[in-house]
Amino acid sequence: MRNVTVIEAVRWTPDRSAVRIIDQRLLPERYEERDLRSLDDVCDAITTLAVRGAPAIGVAGAMGLAASLLAHVRDTNAEFRARLAANAERIRATRPTAVNLPWTLDRMLVRAPSSQLGNQRLLELLFDEATAILDEDRAMCRRIGEHGLALLHDGARVLTHCNAGALATAGIGTAMAPVYLAAERGWSIEVLADETRPLLQGSRLTAWELSRAGIPVRVIADGAAASMMARGLVDMVIVGADRIAANGDVANKIGSYGLAIAARHHGIPFYVAAPSSTLDRTLPNGGAIHVEQRHRDELARSFGTLTIPDGVPVENPAFDITPAELVTSIVTDQGVWRPPFNFMDSTLGIRYSGVVSAERQVPGAESRLV
Ligand code: MRU
Repeated sequence: MRNVTVIEAVRWTPDRSAVRIIDQRLLPERYEERDLRSLDDVCDAITTLAVRGAPAIGVAGAMGLAASLLAHVRDTNAEFRARLAANAERIRATRPTAVNLPWTLDRMLVRAPSSQLGNQRLLELLFDEATAILDEDRAMCRRIGEHGLALLHDGARVLTHCNAGALATAGIGTAMAPVYLAAERGWSIEVLADETRPLLQGSRLTAWELSRAGIPVRVIADGAAASMMARGLVDMVIVGADRIAANGDVANKIGSYGLAIAARHHGIPFYVAAPSSTLDRTLPNGGAIHVEQRHRDELARSFGTLTIPDGVPVENPAFDITPAELVTSIVTDQGVWRPPFNFMDSTLGIRYSGVVSAERQVPGAESRLV
């Protein structure tokens, strides 16, 4: 077994008073960590993508909610509870598409029952829940990797989009988890990383973390992906997900849908890897997924340079929806699912409505677990 070092994108500070993140806005030029203590710290880090990726924002949001209450433990119980609710709502509003954020925040809120718990005890429960969410995310990533390994082979050439690696989670990533485990086993895997316009999570982040771990990675322009497939240089596509509807429609970084179409055209499997907490059973299909629109300057002033003339309108959706029929398999921490996907009646995933249901059993799903 080869030793593969994977970075930790989200963790507690040693005294457990704040959330320590790697500031992803600065990579690959500078490595800097940031400690999030206040509500503003947490909201700013998520909104500006200092911490990003669906699982990572869910984990950081929950931990940040606990940290943001530390300075208020001497408030009255009513004030403390009101602040808990208000802080959760502000964090929830930072980014709308990834379901992981409302899921972890709802988990935190059910730890505050109406009974007369004092602030100190309530705070301890919140820190415990946030730590459980952190630990579970790490474990889910590893299990995704173990299930996903069955889809890889020694020598595989894997194309990925955006960053669904360690930087996007608290663990070893989702789409990149099988790649890390394959590298541990000494397999030679080459990753083709789409640069991922407009914010370059592929070239800045995926290339950074994989090269740091000694895994061969080549960056390509987004527009090169289809022709790489046509030239026979891609064995499979693996991407992450921000939200998966009950029928298997997948919201992920803008450009994923185009990749899925190109992969189908060339007979290449298109895999989606995500924790079961990314399955949103409340949505029958992807049509109801709220796609975040980001600021025009991400396109018009790319990294500080004017790239679109002033006055020209811009459309900047951060995500797109890949229809389930283009998805070959969905790899979760609970197994590899093949079409027809039907997570509606499954006990996989979440059905949240202010409170979370933490079912874990698989039976009942019509999708096939292989
Ligand atoms: O806008 P970002 O960088 O947060 O978008 C991230 C993605 O689209 C990822 O592919 C997705 O969150 C899965 S991360 C394991």
